[in-house]
Amino acid sequence: MKSRRDFMGMALGGFTALGAVGGLYAAKETWDMLPSIKSGGFTTIDLSGCFAGEPMVEKWRGKPIFVLKKTADMPKHDRDIVVGDDRYHVSIALCTHLGCIPAYKKGEKKFFCACHGGEFDTSGVNLPGLPPPSPLEIPPFKIEGTTLILGEEGPEYLKMKQNNLIA
Ligand code: FES
Repeated sequence: MKSRRDFMGMALGGFTALGAVGGLYAAKETWDMLPSIKSGGFTTIDLSGCFAGEPMVEKWRGKPIFVLKKTADMPKHDRDIVVGDDRYHVSIALCTHLGCIPAYKKGEKKFFCACHGGEFDTSGVNLPGLPPPSPLEIPPFKIEGTTLILGEEGPEYLKMKQNNLIA
């Protein structure tokens, strides 16, 4: 005969399972901010879904990735990924000081790390005199048309790497 305790256990288990499914659904809606496909260690992003000045966050191999389509008034940089007439800043969204996730301050056009006050410009370059010792890291990438493939070292990435621009 099942005790009251068994029944409570089963009921709680049911709620937990429902909660987990709900949680997964909510998380999936949050992750898919840009049209993207994740498979075999690669994340494929359609950049045509980006709006200038509005950074998006994607995921590659468990790491958060910033994708910022630059506006015309944002300074150009050799770290930019150029697609047609558009320029993008793409970086691993982990502060190079101690690994916190910076937030983007739209009004100031900066990535700001709340942990110790680190700041990065719209090219992911660390601002001087603050704790982060280096720019936000650029993940391996390849460009095919308007598609960004994270995880593959394309010619644009290799050129940046050669010029010591990826970190
Ligand atoms: Fe970002 Fe320290 S972890 S400033």
